[in-house]
Amino acid sequence: MTQGKKEQVRVMFDNIAGKYDFLNHFLSAGIDVLWRKRLVKMLMKSNPERILDVATGTADLAIELARKTKASITGVDISQGMLDIGQQKLITKKLDHQIVLKLADSEMLPFENHSFDAAMVAFGVRNFENLDKGLAEMQRVLTKNGMIVVLEFSRPRVFPVKQFYNFYFRFILPSLGRIVSKDKEAYTYLPESVGNFPDGNDFLVHLENANFSKVSQRRLTFGIATIYTGFKL
Ligand SMILES: C[S@@+](CC[C@H](N)C(=O)[O-])C[C@H]1O[C@@H](n2cnc3c(N)ncnc32)[C@H](O)[C@@H]1O
Repeated sequence: MTQGKKEQVRVMFDNIAGKYDFLNHFLSAGIDVLWRKRLVKMLMKSNPERILDVATGTADLAIELARKTKASITGVDISQGMLDIGQQKLITKKLDHQIVLKLADSEMLPFENHSFDAAMVAFGVRNFENLDKGLAEMQRVLTKNGMIVVLEFSRPRVFPVKQFYNFYFRFILPSLGRIVSKDKEAYTYLPESVGNFPDGNDFLVHLENANFSKVSQRRLTFGIATIYTGFKL
């Protein structure tokens, strides 16, 4: 029997956990750091006190946020391997009191309704087995007026960025990723998963279907990534 997507994703991230941070920064030439900073800036406008970081991975986004706020941050992920690396970073940076990491599935969050003022997710929603279920869960655990912020890869539409991006994503990134991570599939999965994923207005429709209001998008770096926002009214 073939594994479900969730199990495949979990195993894949467990396998590459030790190399994930390096590969992330290397393959994106460090732009991912700037994108996370932009997300944090947008999220901080709503002044949240309890924040959920879904698919937190090695906790980079949670750590970036903790630099800017005293708010309490909870990170969840299905990969214990990624969380272990994240936990080591929290201890080194003395952030383990402010940020708590938990092994949990975004499609079945182990929190009461209305537990968080904001929910964020960076490069995570694309990996969900069921996107709409994951978004609905984030909506459920948010308080009234709570904000959702999603950072995800998108497909650039303008010449020549679109052509360069396609070439890089299809040919260069999988080879470099394979050599460094020693995982045959992880960096083939990345371009495939971006190609199949709803972006732009299509993603906003998913947010609205999950009962988020005032949805909007901001394209970053010629549309290679996009930040989507919405509110639970
Ligand atoms: C590309 S990483 C992103 C990590 C981090 N947010 C960042 O910005 O670097 C995607 C993460 O999503 C996690 N993930 C995938 N499906 C998940 C699910 N259903 N629930 C929780 N985490 C999930 C994976 O284990 C992985 O750590």
